[in-house]
Amino acid sequence: MKTQVGIIGGGPSGLLLSQLLHLRGIDNVILERRSRDYVLGRIRAGVLEHGFADLMREAECGARMDAEGEIHDGFYIAHNGIKERIDLNGLTGGNSVVVYGQTELTRDLYEARDKMGGNIIHNAEDVKPHDMTSDAPYLTYRSGGEIKRIDCDYIIGADGFHGVSRKSIPSDKIKEFERIYPFGWLGILSRTKPVSPELIYAKHERGFALCSMRSQQLSRYYIQVPLDNTVDDWSDGQFWDELKMRLPTEVSAGLITGPSIEKSIAPLRSFVAEPMRYGNMFLAGDAAHIVPPTGARGLNSAASDIYYLFHALLDHYKKGDDSGLDGYSEKALARVWKAQRFSWWMTTLLHSFPSNSDFDNHLQQTDLEYLFSSKSAMASLAENYVGLPF
Ligand code: APR
Ligand code: PHB
Repeated sequence: MKTQVGIIGGGPSGLLLSQLLHLRGIDNVILERRSRDYVLGRIRAGVLEHGFADLMREAECGARMDAEGEIHDGFYIAHNGIKERIDLNGLTGGNSVVVYGQTELTRDLYEARDKMGGNIIHNAEDVKPHDMTSDAPYLTYRSGGEIKRIDCDYIIGADGFHGVSRKSIPSDKIKEFERIYPFGWLGILSRTKPVSPELIYAKHERGFALCSMRSQQLSRYYIQVPLDNTVDDWSDGQFWDELKMRLPTEVSAGLITGPSIEKSIAPLRSFVAEPMRYGNMFLAGDAAHIVPPTGARGLNSAASDIYYLFHALLDHYKKGDDSGLDGYSEKALARVWKAQRFSWWMTTLLHSFPSNSDFDNHLQQTDLEYLFSSKSAMASLAENYVGLPF
C-alpha cells in the first residue's frame, strides 16, 4: 500500500490530523494497535480550549461538541474552607473553554472518518517505522499473521506516551526531560448531577481534589492519592467521604453521591522529548509530551501540535514550501514548554507534597494569597487555562 502520510495511533491526535488532511485532499492511513471499542472505552480529560474547538469545527467534527458541550466562562479554586472564582471570560477579554469529554470527541472523529471513507486499520500489531531519515520511509505491521507494508512520504508518530514512534528514534538523537510527582489522581465517573455548574479545583492539607463533569447528568471527581494506592484500596463510600473532607462545607453539603461507573488511578508526570522530528517522522501529542492533568493542558497541547503539523503538511503539498515542516519541532516545543510550565505550576500550587518543608508550605499558601490579591496574577492563570495562541 502507498499513501502520502502514514499515521501511527488512532487517538485524538492521529484522528484529527487524518481528518484535516483528508478534507484538503491529502491521502493518509492510520495504524491503531487497539480496537475501536478499546480506544473509546478510555476515560480521559474533558476541557477543550477554544483553539481546539475551532480546529474540531474546521475538521467538520464540531456539531455535537457545539450542541452538547458546555461553555464555561470560569472555574473555582477552593482553599481554606472557601471557594474563589477565576473569571476566565472577564480576565481574558471574552475567552472561555468547552467542557466536552475526550471520549465523545474521539467518537465524533471516528464517525467523521467513517463518513469520508478514511482508512483506519485497527488491531495493527507490531507497527514499526522504517528508513525515517530517507526520502522513502515506510511502515510495517502485522495483521492476521501477515506482515504488511505502507510506503509514505511522511510518518506521524501520534501513538501516545507508550507508543513505538518515539522509542524508534536512536537515543543519541532525542533528549527526554521528565518529572514524576509523588502522587496520583484517583478518578470516578458517576451518573449524578455535578456539585457545581463550574469546575472546582480544591487545595486541602489532606490532598488535592477536583470536581468536574461530562454533562449535567454525569460527574467526574478526582482526589490526590499516594502512588502506591490501587483502585481496590478505595470503595465508593471511602472515595465520597474523602472528597467531602477536602471540599469547603458549603460545597460538600450539596454533593450528590452515587455508584461509580468508572474508577481509575493515573500517576502524574511531566515529560518532554526533543526534538519532535527525526528525519521524515514527526511526533505529536502524548508521543512527545505529557503534563500532569491539573491545568487541563494534555489534550490541548496535542491539538496545537496537530494545528502546526497540519499547516506544515499543507504548505508542503500545496505550495512546495517546507519551512513549516522544518520549523515544526521548534514551534511546537515553544508552546509545549509553556503548557509544561503552567501545568507544573498549577500542580505545585494545589497539591500536598509529602516532602514539603514548613517553608515550602508557607510559600505555597503565599502563592495562593498572591493569586487572589492580584488581578494580573489571576489574568495570567486565566490566559494559560483558556490556551495561549497557536
Ligand atoms: N502502534 C499503533 N498504535 C499505537 C501504538 C503502536 N505501537 N502504541 C499506541 N498506539 C495507539 C494507542 O492505542 C492510542 O489509541 O496510539 C493512540 C494514542 O492515543 P493517546 O494516548 O490518546 O494520545 P494522543 O492521540 O496524542 O492524545 C492526546 O493527551 O493528555 C492526553 O488525555 C489526553 O489522551 C489525550 C492525549
Ligand atoms: C476532567 O474532567 O477529567 C478534568 C478536568 C479538568 C482537569 C483535569 C481533568 O484539569
